[in-house]
Amino acid sequence: MSDETISESFRNRGMSRRAFLKFCAATASVLALSPVEAAEMTRRLAQAPRPSVIYLSYQECTGCLESLTRSFSPGIGQLLFNDISLDFNDTLQAAAGEAAEAARETAMRNAWGKYILVVDGSVPTKDGGVYCTAAGKSAHADIQYAASGAQAVIAMGTCASFGGLPFAQPNPTGAVPVSEIVRDRPVINVSGCPPIAEVITGVIMYYVAFGTPALDRLGRPVNFYGNTIHDRCYRRPFYDRGLFAHSFDDKGAREGWCLYELGCKGPTTYNSCATMKWNGGTSYPIESGHGCLGCSEPNFWDHGGFYRPLSTPTGHWSAGEVLGGAAVAGAAVGLGVAALARSRQNKKGDHKADHKPTDKDDKG
Ligand code: SF4
Ligand code: SF4
Ligand code: F3S
Repeated sequence: MSDETISESFRNRGMSRRAFLKFCAATASVLALSPVEAAEMTRRLAQAPRPSVIYLSYQECTGCLESLTRSFSPGIGQLLFNDISLDFNDTLQAAAGEAAEAARETAMRNAWGKYILVVDGSVPTKDGGVYCTAAGKSAHADIQYAASGAQAVIAMGTCASFGGLPFAQPNPTGAVPVSEIVRDRPVINVSGCPPIAEVITGVIMYYVAFGTPALDRLGRPVNFYGNTIHDRCYRRPFYDRGLFAHSFDDKGAREGWCLYELGCKGPTTYNSCATMKWNGGTSYPIESGHGCLGCSEPNFWDHGGFYRPLSTPTGHWSAGEVLGGAAVAGAAVGLGVAALARSRQNKKGDHKADHKPTDKDDKG
């Protein structure tokens, strides 16, 4: 770990102060900071040492890391090699086997108490944690050791944040989220399957500048998880008017109507997809014609059908999902409002808003 600050690293690479300011502005934009907060972030990042990051992976599919390597602003190359010091990641590094284990131990000891620990994947606890071991050490023991030397712990992705796919019924390995193991310090949950790349980099840079961000009741930064997909969805006007697609190839789908009746979980899902989008702001699932699966919420695999329209929550929901339950109720109210609007329009003789796509529509 070096003592070089982020602004010094720009200077030492022959880059101008203007380039540093541009980087700060891009980061502040991702975080949707006010001008005052953006100026403060720039001031702090100018003085902040490049943080050491130790990145560990347990029960995961590498999708979270794949997402991170597709960050555009700041780009992953800039983030990993210039703005932070990624001191260990077993997928991106060249070393393997004993050399990798030794590199990891050295990196952690050199930055003990100062590094940011990023974890993707859940942690198995059944049968002594044998279902995820490396170098003879279980993930359970490994994360306890790694977290004890970290100044902050970021759980990257829904597997690390809430258990994710390994946690899905019947959860054969006894998988648990990072926060169930690390209990002596806050765990910042950056959920999503995977999370948006710019959300990951934004959370890291926010932590470097300001420390732990404000978190919601599920431990997620409110900068990125403060609104539902539904709150910001560009198809929302169709929802409010009661215009829904009923199949993926009917007229409603082609016209870009709301995907609620095709199972969209946007009303109960807190994430930034509708505003930040994916792949450098290109699109997000709903813009590509598919409903939101709710991938940044707990237990999204077990919520009873990706293509079944939302209904009131059942007893299967956990305490943390009360938030989602409230949103379901909100969605129900929204549908009621939409139905009322349709009824009023019908009384006026305007049947357009009540139009249900038919086979005839499909033909023309
Ligand atoms: Fe893979 Fe999704 Fe788990 Fe990330 S959250 S490791 S993308 S299954
Ligand atoms: Fe968008 Fe889904 Fe809400 Fe419809 S239900 S407005 S598609 S988020
Ligand atoms: Fe996931 Fe829904 Fe975004 S499925 S990627 S939270 S639109």
